Amino acid sequence: MKPYENYLDTLRRSSKERSETRFAANQLLEMHYEASKRENPVIVELGVDKGQSTKVFLNAIDEKPYAKLISVDILDCKNAAKSDKWEFVQQDSADIEALILKKPFLKDGIDLLYVDSKHTDEHVMKEVYSFFKYIKENGVIYFDDIDSGPYMRNQRKDSVSLEIANRKILNLLESIFRSNHSSIDFIISRGSTGLAKYIKKSKLGDELKPPLFINERRFSLFWRFLKLITFKKSYQHNNKTKDSFLIDPGSTNSD
Ligand SMILES: C[S@@+](CC[C@H](N)C(=O)[O-])C[C@H]1O[C@@H](n2cnc3c(N)ncnc32)[C@H](O)[C@@H]1O
Repeated sequence: MKPYENYLDTLRRSSKERSETRFAANQLLEMHYEASKRENPVIVELGVDKGQSTKVFLNAIDEKPYAKLISVDILDCKNAAKSDKWEFVQQDSADIEALILKKPFLKDGIDLLYVDSKHTDEHVMKEVYSFFKYIKENGVIYFDDIDSGPYMRNQRKDSVSLEIANRKILNLLESIFRSNHSSIDFIISRGSTGLAKYIKKSKLGDELKPPLFINERRFSLFWRFLKLITFKKSYQHNNKTKDSFLIDPGSTNSD
């Protein structure tokens, strides 16, 4: 039996329930699936605590002889799990130079990075910008704590600090995506703490451009009026122009 298989079974059962625990279970199962489908992944986890995600990753890589999980936490979490595929490093998760000195093989590339340490946008920004160049092409970065919905006023986990922190992290990820959409895909799951996923489309060694923050527009009438008086055009779908992102079904001849 694989390590922590009972825990995985509990997650699988929870994912079928109609209660809200299925969202939390699905987040962990998504990462388990991603780790399982890779041949011998190098996984780095930022934030260990009691080791829920640690156990999920160790279960996923158990039968992969060259796979590794490196887990980083500012506190001593070395007893959170046990496996010869696991190495725990106690340090600040944003200090990539210190981590590379301790684990130089990470320079050859990381397949999966899980960001779940200090939940502030400043810290997540340091983590993603310092780790990105070590992510392999088609490698993934998961980010926990990006959904503010469950923490909003009168919602089931009402908490003003978590609501704001999670929204700031999601805004940051949106802003990074905006200026890097040629090198990352971006997927979001909501419902529990929320899980975001970047898939790196550029090569190992490539870095991220700085985020592009744009304030959201509200008050549609005001903005439409402003466009009118400044003679600015709004985007219109038109698959006859080269600006269109639509793939015209008429342009394929197979059916
Ligand atoms: C939400 S918990 C991690 C949960 C874990 N991934 C799991 O699934 O059970 C966050 C962890 O991040 C750690 N942490 C907080 N700030 C940190 C920092 N600057 N560097 C590294 N770890 C940090 C905390 O000690 C805590 O254990």
